Amino acid sequence: MSYPYQIKSLEEYKAAWKKSVEEPEHFWADIASNFHWYKKWDKVVDWNFTEPSIKWFEGGKVNITYNCLDRHLVDKADQPAIIWEPNDPNDHHRILTYAQLHEKVVQFSNVLKNNGVKKGDRVCIYMGMIPELAIAVLACARVGAIHSVIFGGFSAQSISDRLQDAQAVFIITCDGAFRGAKDIPLKSVIDDALVNCAFVKRVIVYTHTRTAVSMIKGRDVWWEDEVRKVETAGNPDFPAEVMDAEDPLFILYTSGSTGKPKGVVHACAGYMVYTNYTFVNVFQYQPKEIHFCTADIGWITGHSYIVYGPLSAGATTLMFEGIPTYPDAGRFWDIVDKYKVNILYTAPTAIRSLMAFGLDPLKNKDLSSLRVLGTVGEPINEEAWHWYDEHIGKKKCPIVDTWWQTETGGVLISNLAGITPAKPSFATLPMPGVEPILLDEKGNEITENNVTGNLCIKSPWPSTIRTTYGDHERCRTNYFATYENLYFTGDGAYRDENGFYRITGRVDDVLNVSGHRIGTAEVENAINMHAGVVESAVVGYPHDVKGQGIYAFVIYSGTHGTPEMVKKDITATVSRIIGPIAKPDKIQLVSGLPKTRSGKIMRRILRKIAEGELDKIGDTTTLLDPAIVEEIKKGKV
Ligand code: PRX
Repeated sequence: MSYPYQIKSLEEYKAAWKKSVEEPEHFWADIASNFHWYKKWDKVVDWNFTEPSIKWFEGGKVNITYNCLDRHLVDKADQPAIIWEPNDPNDHHRILTYAQLHEKVVQFSNVLKNNGVKKGDRVCIYMGMIPELAIAVLACARVGAIHSVIFGGFSAQSISDRLQDAQAVFIITCDGAFRGAKDIPLKSVIDDALVNCAFVKRVIVYTHTRTAVSMIKGRDVWWEDEVRKVETAGNPDFPAEVMDAEDPLFILYTSGSTGKPKGVVHACAGYMVYTNYTFVNVFQYQPKEIHFCTADIGWITGHSYIVYGPLSAGATTLMFEGIPTYPDAGRFWDIVDKYKVNILYTAPTAIRSLMAFGLDPLKNKDLSSLRVLGTVGEPINEEAWHWYDEHIGKKKCPIVDTWWQTETGGVLISNLAGITPAKPSFATLPMPGVEPILLDEKGNEITENNVTGNLCIKSPWPSTIRTTYGDHERCRTNYFATYENLYFTGDGAYRDENGFYRITGRVDDVLNVSGHRIGTAEVENAINMHAGVVESAVVGYPHDVKGQGIYAFVIYSGTHGTPEMVKKDITATVSRIIGPIAKPDKIQLVSGLPKTRSGKIMRRILRKIAEGELDKIGDTTTLLDPAIVEEIKKGKV
């Protein structure tokens, strides 16, 4: 299959963008007609940002897995769909062709049906990066169940919060996952999570690490046993369920500036069209190429550019179970060499951590198969950009800096590899269908260039967030209420003289630690659970490898051991409540926090202290107790 909608020149890009904003209905109808529909849509798009109500391809009937699997059986049955590289390079890798992946997804769809899973049910998936994770995701989509994948680094408490919010009655997990030298006992974490979730009816467990697990009678079943039952029944077919275009496809939880993580909901048809369109255009995918996205399927990047985007385009997608530094810092390059990877898509934090090992890990690694490099998840600093360009791409591979979010489903701002210009540390130009604008503090549009402002989007693209699960009002207030008639991204951006965008980072209380989104309020709530903590305030600070580190200012009651002991306990508490990814990098015990007379914590001051900009703190006279700032400055860690 070649892609009639693949943009081939800068002129074509300009024409596509123009058409997409002037005639969005025609533009997207043309693209959508390249997919398989059981019934064509009645209306391409219908929207208002006030409620918000966003509908794409209404009246259309579709199943994303038909588009990811069945339609490729004609000409790609024997082409690898998924190449899987295990954590341990000495273990066997696996290759699933489109025919094999289709067969396994059909089989597991039958397993789901036999276990009572129906269209619209929420299914939580908590697994390591193994092919069965992709199979589970696709099988849910095939039966019309709404999957909610939870990253393997989240704690039992986080899982339990998500299960309750989504009222997920079914769980798919595995005994454990390998991550570098670690073996994470996933099923046992699930068991802890389920202590508070008696409504969960069924847990399906895949055997991977052979870690001991306790199977609860009547609730837990083995994946392998259930598959055997389907085989014994003669492997019946499972035609993909016919879904309405706007039926929810999945929920993915993500952090905001307040409260607990919210369940971002994406809809079947729009998400399918947009992830495919961006995959084909941003990376300029060519048939038979091998695409290696190093993200975890627990995050949106894995959903969109390991699973749905590549598979709907009939691509070969590489899934890697391990981490970039195991068994050594040459692992990514070994994988590129071993499979002759053509497209490598990773995060700036991974690039920075590998840069720190110097060039030795690159010795004797043949990277000549690489054609395109990509980054995602956080701003890339120029030093890392140039290292990637020079040492990995050998100055021959365009780098796409892709800006997007869980809520956007797919890439919104990025250069198109080799087609539109790149500029180090700039995401550059919007995708067709995307109209970014910048606003000043007062909410006025800034029309000139060479300016910084709050980044908003004027009109919907097909994979715009539809709602936050179970709480539509939260979706409205978070994204559509800050500025009238606009989607507010929560990011700040600079626009240069050519209209290229550089994302400067979050303008709200959301941190980006190693490309993972974490709300400061969430971390504070977790810290405050510790019995010795009176109050806390969390801010980000620049971190060489992680991009941002977590700095916690904590008022300690003094009643729970020495300061060193309590710091360790606080770290353990955060790990237990959220997961190891949210552990503070620095904890400073303080006797008070800088507050206004009305009791609001002045985070601006704490941020300056955490950043080490002690002489740039500014006016403190409006504080209830200005002296506290001096004390905190002296105790900076
Ligand atoms: O701040 C932006 C940053 O990551 C945030 C979205 O995080 P999440 O929903 O977890 O999705 C990450 C993967 C798509 C954004 O609000 N971000 C993402 N990509 C970039 C980025 N910041 C700068 N440059 C990027 N390319």
